Order: sequence, then C-alpha cells, then structure tokens
Amino acid sequence: MSQEIENTIIRLTESLKQHNYNYYVLAMPTISDREFDQKLKELEALEVAYPAYKQPNSPTSMVGGAVTKDFNTVQHDVPMLSLGNTYSKEELFDFDNRIKKLIGEGYEYTCELKFDGLAIGIKYENGKMIRALTRGDGVQGDDVTVNVQTIRSIPHQLIGDYPSEVEVRGEIFMHRKAFDKMNADRVSSGEKAFANPRNSAAGTIKMQEQSEVAKRPLDAFLYQVIGDEKEFKSHNGALVKAKSWGLPVNGDMKIEEGIEGVWRFIEQWDVKRKTLSYDIDGIVIKVNDFNQQHDLGFTAKSPRWAIAYKFETERASTVLESISYQVGRTGAVTPVANLSPVQLLGTTVKRASLHNADVIEELDVRVGDTVYVEKGGEIIPKIVGVNMEERSAKSSKTVFIHSCPECETELTRTDGEAAHYCPNELGCPPQIKGRIEHFISRKALNIDSLGEGKISMLYNAGLLSTPADLFTLTFEELNGLSKSVTNEDTGETRLISLREKSAQKIIEGIEASKEISFDRVLYGIGIRFVGSTVAKKLANHFKTIDAIEQASLEELIAVEEIGEKIGQSVVEFFSKALNQQMVDSLKESGLQMQQADNEALISTSLEGLKIVVSGVFEKYSRNDLKAEIEKHGGQNVGSISAKTSFVLAGDNMGPAKLAKAEKLGVKVISELEFIEMING
Ligand code: IVH
Repeated sequence: MSQEIENTIIRLTESLKQHNYNYYVLAMPTISDREFDQKLKELEALEVAYPAYKQPNSPTSMVGGAVTKDFNTVQHDVPMLSLGNTYSKEELFDFDNRIKKLIGEGYEYTCELKFDGLAIGIKYENGKMIRALTRGDGVQGDDVTVNVQTIRSIPHQLIGDYPSEVEVRGEIFMHRKAFDKMNADRVSSGEKAFANPRNSAAGTIKMQEQSEVAKRPLDAFLYQVIGDEKEFKSHNGALVKAKSWGLPVNGDMKIEEGIEGVWRFIEQWDVKRKTLSYDIDGIVIKVNDFNQQHDLGFTAKSPRWAIAYKFETERASTVLESISYQVGRTGAVTPVANLSPVQLLGTTVKRASLHNADVIEELDVRVGDTVYVEKGGEIIPKIVGVNMEERSAKSSKTVFIHSCPECETELTRTDGEAAHYCPNELGCPPQIKGRIEHFISRKALNIDSLGEGKISMLYNAGLLSTPADLFTLTFEELNGLSKSVTNEDTGETRLISLREKSAQKIIEGIEASKEISFDRVLYGIGIRFVGSTVAKKLANHFKTIDAIEQASLEELIAVEEIGEKIGQSVVEFFSKALNQQMVDSLKESGLQMQQADNEALISTSLEGLKIVVSGVFEKYSRNDLKAEIEKHGGQNVGSISAKTSFVLAGDNMGPAKLAKAEKLGVKVISELEFIEMING
C-alpha cells in the first residue's frame, strides 16, 4: 500500500512538472487549468497525509514555471507570485470567511477581470521604461524588454506625477480577432497555427526577433503597482494613479463591500465576457486596502489577500468513434478525433484535434472512450480529457500510426519535435496536391479557375505532379477529362467531366498567372516559413530568383526580418535538385522570376492615404487594386474608420459598410474614378 502511495506521489509530481514546463516554457499546455489544479490538489492532499514521500522541488511548493534559455535571466525585485484559484461559489465564500477571521469586519474588495495571457513586470525609472521581465519561475524571469517595447499600448515614457522608481505588473494578451487573422495568415503560408490567443501571446513575447514581435498584435492591461513609497492607500487608488501616468489599466473594475456583491459581479461577467474582444478566464478578487493586505500577508506561493475565481470552460462529453490521420502540404501528420456529433456553444461538433502523439499518450485517449471536448479560443475544438469511469475493459491503448495513411511510407519524428512527418515529399499524394493548391492560391499565382477538386482530377489523370506541370497542360488534355464522384449519403457514383468552357478558363488562368509579380511566385513555390511578407522582403532585397538561389545563409539573414530559421529553410530548398529543376522549368515557362522595375513605387499620388477596398470589381481583381494602391504610395486598411481617406467600392459592397462610410463622412469612389485618379 505505502509503495503504491509513494509511486502515485512520484507520478503526480513528474506529471505536474511536465505540465508546468509545457505551460510556462513551451507555451503549449496539453491539459486545462482546471485539470492541472485538480492534479495539484490531489498531490497536495497526499503530501499532507504522507509527508515522508514528498519529492524534492515538488510543484506544490513552487510558483511554477521555469526560465527559457535565450534571454538574460534577471532576478525580480519582489517575487512574482501567482494566485490561489477557486472554481465554486462555496470556495469563494470560504475565502471570504478566512479574510474575516484574520482581519475582522470592515474591508472591501476590488473585482477585476482575469486576463488570459502572460504575466509581465515592467520597471520604470524616472518615468522611462528600463526593463520588462516575464514571470519565469517567480524569482527570476526573462528580460524581454525589447519585445515589450513593441507593444503600442505600453508607454516607453510615463507622463504626469509618476514616482522616480516604480514597477507595474500586468498581463500581455492578444485580441481574438487579431489572433484569428494572424493564424489564418500563418496557415496560408504553411506555418503551424497557434492553439489560442494566450499561447500565441506567450510564444510571441519569447521570440528572439524583435521585428517579428512588432508584427504580432499584442496588447496589455496592468493590474498591480509595486513602489517603495506607499503613496496610495488602496489598490484601486494605485491603479487610478497608474492610469494617469499613461499606463493601460482596464476600466471594467468594481469595488464591492461584501462577498455577495462579488458573486453578482462574477455572474454578470460569466455572461458578458463573450462580448469582450479578448479572452478572460475568470475574475480576480483582491482586498482593496493596502494596510489590510499587509496584515493578511502571503503563503509561500500566493497572497492571502487575493483569489482568482475561474470560469467553467464550455465543455461537452461524447464518444470517440475513431481516429484518422491527416497529411498536410509539409508532410506533417495530424491525428483527428472523429466524434459522435455533440452540441457545443451552438455548433455541432463532429471532429476535434488531437494535435500529436504526445497529446494522445498524455490523455491516454482510446477509441470507444467517452471524452470531454472544449472550445476555448481554439480554431477547432480539442479533446481535454477522458471519462475513465466509462472506459470499457476491452479498450486498447492507442498506438500512433507508423506509416503514412496516404502512401504507406514509414513516418519520421525528429527529436524534440512534436509532429510525425511523412518524408515521401515527392510521392505522397496530399503533399504533392497540397503544394500545387498552395501555388495556385489567392495570395500566390491566383489561378481561380483551378481548385482542390480539379487539381485532384489532373493529378489522378497523371497530368500534374509539380506546379511546373501546370504550364505544359494543353486544352486537348483538359477538355472532357472526367472523374468519378461518390455521394456520401447514397453511395451513388457518377462521372463528372470538365467542359470545354472550364478547360478554356483553366488554360487562360494559367496563362494570366505569368504576369503575377515575382514575390508572389516566390511565395507560391512553397519554401517552408516563407509566407507572403517574407517573400516580399526577399524579392525586394535580392531582386531575382537566381540571386536568392545563390545567397549564402549569412547573406539571407542579413536581410531585415529574415532570421536563421527562414534562412536555413531557403538554403535547404535550393539545395535539392528537384526544386532547382522545378524553378528552372517555371522560369522557362515565362513566370516572373525577377522583380519588375515598376514594382518599386510608380508614383506617390496616393501617399499618406488610407484606403479600404470593398466589393467585386470589373476591370481588376481586389488584390490587383490593393497592389496598385501600394505601388502609388497608398496604404490598404481593412475597416472603415474616421481616419479612412476613401473607400474604393465595387459591386456588392455590404450596406452596413456603405452606411458606416456615410455616417463618418468617408468618400466612396468607383473603380473607374480610382483608375483616373492614379493615371492622372
Ligand atoms: S493579480 C500576486 N490581477 O493571473 C499575484 N492577476 O495566478 C497578483 N492575471 O499570474 C496577480 N488578470 O498573470 C492579477 N486582474 C488581474 C489578473 C491577473 C490576469 C494573471 C496573472 C497571474 C495569474 C494568477
């Protein structure tokens, strides 16, 4: 028995340490906060009952976290502690009772939103930002000052009557919309999507390249002031002051005299949080008066004067029917859970991500299990746990596939990487088709007469295996080409043929793509980590594909915003004979392989203008119009505001947009007027 208890303690300790590492260092948690807290409480209880078995450096006596290696590690002036969590009304009222017992009646609470990001401590001397540290292990953190300086809402210089030395602490996060947009861009350039805004913010702040950080939409709220002189009597007073120094302090904060009022605030925000533009995962309750905070003091890990109430994440339980494996353009294999359909936050969920082999192992998820599915900030729902009580005795452990589900090649996995890869780059159908789909996609060669279905058809007919093959296709080969399609519901199979008109359009689309600018061709050829922005940078700098091909790693990384990872990927791409052949063949087909002279600014006629392009146009595609705007020195913006110079409107521009433009007095001009404007 005692051996069993000791083993359980060891197992829990190791598992919690790993989860801490996943959360704080990798910024990739694999279990929910609630499950983490449950495990931690289980371990705490066992350690209290069997102190002899408590392991050295147990996660129960640490704040959590660790320090990442590539930043300077700096000691916090005042340790950066975390908060105790509660998940129920009962636990919250227990907290209030503890406070009452310790300091008697006559206290008030501040209720604040609990922002779901990563903690930061920023030090100002004589009003100037001198240092920003992550929490790290609570005692020392990473010096990420250069990255924090890219966040627009955080001032480099305070204003007003700030103290000569002060540290403010808060949370860095990402707005959901900005996160979605950023993720969509990542996916379309073949990069891995971030799981949610919090991971994305945490990953971003630890990036080595400041210029990359600057491009990511980070924001912050500050919620604690640490200063030598206690000029303020209360936490609320300190935050009001901090706001007057120009710091971003959230306005949705309330003072409540009793715990009942606190509970009402929590209930309100559990509903209202869905209307916020960013994620919060709970409410933080703090005793307001600084003297009372002082009297209450701290435990080893957290203040006694504050607590975090965590909201329930929306979760459903359903049966895992099977696991399938998807192979992407880069060969990465992603396990996907096929579920019995279940309702979650108003949508029917049938599939959920299982991420990779480590996650399957960690959750010990098996086909036939009843699993819990959550939908947080994630793009697709994820499985967060298994209901072990409902596990069938007959179930067997999931074994991650060894060979590619598409081409049967043995999968590889590099040490330290989570994903399995199919190395059969040149023979694995989804990789081949994926590369061609990427090549013709909107931001690349934009051949919209082709799509996934037609590419599949051409591939199956043996007409297409690299993007270069597109340029040898003939009308005769395409006309009448057919494929059989099976109706999923009826099982019926019928033959679909490519009509003359479609065949003609495809040929025309391919021909027209020869005019597409060099940077988009470069993006289209699918070099890993070369998204459209990086492609533009490379094209602008090197001017020709030959120059990029011949560039050394040092020359590549000397380009602004090109780091080691991208540089290495470019070198590797061109070191492969087959890629060189493809590029040569594309060159021979007449694609733009050098920066056109006119791609530099044609004129400055639109300089300083912020332009929204909306609707469908007659003469140009929307992308072409946007490119024209840039070539004439203008700036493309996504939504209409008072700062918009004008809206370039085509057909089908939404009535809401039109009304907004009218309301703000923003001019709306037609395609024709625009053409006149840039030509004259
Ligand atoms: S106060 C002594 N206030 O939640 C700890 N924390 O474990 C003082 N957080 O690490 C923290 N919103 O990163 C506080 N309004 C808020 C917060 C907040 C988010 C984070 C913070 C902290 C974690 C709690």
